[in-house]
Amino acid sequence: MASRIFDHKKIERNVTLLAVAAFITVAIGGIVEIAPLFYIDSTVEEVEGVRPYTPLELAGRNIYIREGCYNCHSQMVRPFRDEVERYGHYSLAAESMYDHPFQWGSKRTGPDLARVGGRYSDEWHRQHLIDPRSVVPESIMPPYSFLAQNEIDGDSVAGDLTALRRVGVPYTDEQIENAVADFEAQADAMGDPSELRARYGDRVSVRDFDGNPSRITEMDALIAYLQMLGTLVDFEAAEAQEQPR
Ligand code: HEC
Repeated sequence: MASRIFDHKKIERNVTLLAVAAFITVAIGGIVEIAPLFYIDSTVEEVEGVRPYTPLELAGRNIYIREGCYNCHSQMVRPFRDEVERYGHYSLAAESMYDHPFQWGSKRTGPDLARVGGRYSDEWHRQHLIDPRSVVPESIMPPYSFLAQNEIDGDSVAGDLTALRRVGVPYTDEQIENAVADFEAQADAMGDPSELRARYGDRVSVRDFDGNPSRITEMDALIAYLQMLGTLVDFEAAEAQEQPR
């Protein structure tokens, strides 16, 4: 007969022993569930191209959240064939690693926006946000024409960068100090974007997004944000590497 490791009779008749044994059993289950969370940082793989938002994009993201765009739009392409064919490569965890809070969403009254960047012109977005039905007659999206009237400056956005750094977004001191300058530089087609690009990368889009170069409006910020969504990772290059044809 195999030797018994536990003498059940003994455990069941001794309350203290039973309590200790039960505690150990539950603790093992707890550790198995909790321990992986300590390594969550290494679970989200870093992906080339993903960077924190520029001040102008961040201001646009704040407007997106303020206006509740997430009530009708998700920002997560799920790894299913129909979604990938419609929206593009499925979303990677790293693509929202600097999103606080993330905008994955679960409601799609309108289409997913995770990869909407570059799909339309700025002019299209402007028309669509001012009067959605002027470009998509059957649309039920509400108009946001006031965004083109509301001027904004970058003053509050420096505080946002600091707040995001506290929760782990790697903004540098230099980026925080120059938040206002970078905010203005990105919307100025006639200016010199070299410092902005040195801080955020060469692929940052610099132009007048709202069609009115004389001032920076909420429309500039929101379109700057929409136009960069899903454009940070170069999936074509990555796929060409994976499966040479
Ligand atoms: C009441 C729901 C609703 C809200 C709120 C809403 N949208 Fe939409 N959105 C839609 C619908 C429906 C469509 C599809 C028809 C169309 O293109 O207008 C759409 C389409 C879009 C598109 C085009 C996407 C594509 O791939 O064709 C963009 C961009 C967009 N919305 C941005 C926004 C932004 C930015 C906000 C917040 C300022 C917003 N939406 C708020 C319902 C909504």
